[in-house]
Amino acid sequence: MIIKNKNIFHLQGKNTSYIIAVNECGDVMHYYYGKKLRDKNYDWVKQEWSVWNSAGPDKWTLDITPQEYPSYGYTDLKMPAYDILNKNGNNVSRLTYKSYEIVEGDVDKISGMPYLLKGKSSVQTLYITVEDKNAGFSVVLGYTVFDDYDIIARTAKIKNISDTKIKLERAYSCALELPKNDYKALYLSGGWANERNLKETEITGGIKLDISAARGGSSHHINPFVMVAKKDATEFFGEVYGATLVYSGNHSTTVESDQFGNLRLLQGINPFGFSWELGMGEEFETPQSILSYSDCGYGGISRELHDLFRNNLSRSKWSKQERPVLINNWEATYFDFNEDKLMEIAKCAAKQGVELFVLDDGWFGKRYDEDKSMGDWFVNEKKIPSGIDGLAKKINALGLKFGLWFEPEAVNPDSELYRNHPDWIIRVSGMEPTTSRCEYLLDFTKDEVCDYIINAVSKILSSANIEYVKWDMNRPMTEMPYQGFNHKFYLGFYRVMSQICNAFPNVLFEGCSGGGGRFDAGILAYMPQIWTSDNSDAVKRLEIQYSTSFAYPISAISAHVTAVPNHQNGRITSLKTRGDVAKCGVFGYELDITKMSDDELMEVREQIKDYKKLRPLMLNGDFYRLKNPFNTNYCAWEMVAKDKSEVFLMCAKRMSEHNSKEEHIKLMGLSENADYIDMYTKKVYGGDELMYNGVVPEFGKFDFSTFTVHLVKI
Ligand code: GLA
Repeated sequence: MIIKNKNIFHLQGKNTSYIIAVNECGDVMHYYYGKKLRDKNYDWVKQEWSVWNSAGPDKWTLDITPQEYPSYGYTDLKMPAYDILNKNGNNVSRLTYKSYEIVEGDVDKISGMPYLLKGKSSVQTLYITVEDKNAGFSVVLGYTVFDDYDIIARTAKIKNISDTKIKLERAYSCALELPKNDYKALYLSGGWANERNLKETEITGGIKLDISAARGGSSHHINPFVMVAKKDATEFFGEVYGATLVYSGNHSTTVESDQFGNLRLLQGINPFGFSWELGMGEEFETPQSILSYSDCGYGGISRELHDLFRNNLSRSKWSKQERPVLINNWEATYFDFNEDKLMEIAKCAAKQGVELFVLDDGWFGKRYDEDKSMGDWFVNEKKIPSGIDGLAKKINALGLKFGLWFEPEAVNPDSELYRNHPDWIIRVSGMEPTTSRCEYLLDFTKDEVCDYIINAVSKILSSANIEYVKWDMNRPMTEMPYQGFNHKFYLGFYRVMSQICNAFPNVLFEGCSGGGGRFDAGILAYMPQIWTSDNSDAVKRLEIQYSTSFAYPISAISAHVTAVPNHQNGRITSLKTRGDVAKCGVFGYELDITKMSDDELMEVREQIKDYKKLRPLMLNGDFYRLKNPFNTNYCAWEMVAKDKSEVFLMCAKRMSEHNSKEEHIKLMGLSENADYIDMYTKKVYGGDELMYNGVVPEFGKFDFSTFTVHLVKI
């Protein structure tokens, strides 16, 4: 980090520079974020100032000034990063520079929320304090720089320095101002069983992108991640910026193009439904927002985030460990199971090489359907006479680990928990609380509710050899009783999650929310894998897994082979296709394996054997997206070992086309002078040949076929 004259801060990542400058009036201005610049003189920064300010410092117009944390109303009329009802009873403010501090080594420890960890990186955090004495508050802007990444982790901490209370009405985590250019934005939006479709939109005059979620959790609808790219950028080339929020609650990212074509991005807690009162001396901290830059297209940003999330986000020891191949009973039995049925599934699965048996919903209380017993975290002995401990022992005796499903945040009206504590749910007075999937949500803003859940879940986890937990959450949040409630809920939720995860460090936790409704960096901090979607159809999964990889690593993308016709959309695909798609994820099965034919079981054994060989690569490699399923008949992706010694290529073709030649798929990231052998066919290829001529996929002649190549350097 380079500091010049106490008014220029040059933050350097691995290949990037981020430059902040304080002008004569004390405004903290943003000057540059892009490819790394040398430390020379910074005269050009001053020249730029005069471009912004032809009228002289006293006539500074913030409306045309790129800023680090802009306000509304004092000459700037764009969307602001913060909005505070101040000690004078108005919202007008101008924050000016007060001081800076650099903290070496440690990362910014944000209280009560997840954040990036130092890991093996060398880390520096710059804190710039700005204040508005007249309005009665100060803000500490945090910028954490990692020597081995091209990211800047941003936070803002707002403090009431007045002698009365003030009210935050919006408090974004960061602003990023980019100079005039033609930009587009990419983001991930969808719905249940249709999560994270890749969307692209041109950014022209006005607020062209407001991707905000107010559904209670980060949501199926809008993911807290966006890329802003130069118009000519592609998957492989060009300048791209990423913004990812480490947060699971209501969130917002806006992108505004001003009257001059400059761009302002804001990311943080959704201001809608948010306000936060600060008493004298009190502080409010925003969640962390991760800015990233690449000049290697969208793929460059994704690979950077994958490394960052695998190495510097997850608190779980499983983050860097090979995950067990699992079988989950949900799509096999739904609620209709007993111990014998579970054991039949587990026995058959163990013989094929499965390593973990997961008992999903339906094991507790009087849970024969979705309308009963949620919250009653004690075993249903009618279904499971041996109890959880007895069942776990039997499963362990087969050589399998045992895992269990929970939905700790929810409660059914028809449950002992609700009957005993009707005041523990989220509700407003005078209004009948609404159910969704027959559930209420527990009020995690209350300490006693959080403590109860921590104890109830911990009791079960301590009672048996449970080595995996699927943590679900199946409904949106409604009837929030006050502004800021959602954020307070998530502070409670993170306390519950971190206490349980810390108390059981050996347990592998998997996040879930009606499928992939809470697939975000906040969850990933605690749970290294997340159920990607309830839509397990291999063809739909091509799209969902492709777009999820824009922000999140393959080691987080849980993917199961399920039965056909698929339970969500009725599609019939081959077992090969289902296996090939699921292998690019955390691999497992979710079907009644006892109903499979001998031939199918043989294929399952081969798939598992193959996945176990690929597993270290899938956990650690660099992911390249080669063919986009959203705009072609194909999907192709490739995982390359960091040392380029191993490669897995998966190509899929949706609709068969007879009498047509296949396109060459050109691989990326290999050693051009090395030779590689395909472990499936034993054919030998040159790295140069694979990258410059490519391979021609040999698809089956029917729809939805896949082709894979597993190359090892010789
Ligand atoms: C959600 C999950 C499913 C399953 C069910 C159980 O829908 O996404 O995988 O666990 O809940 O009720």
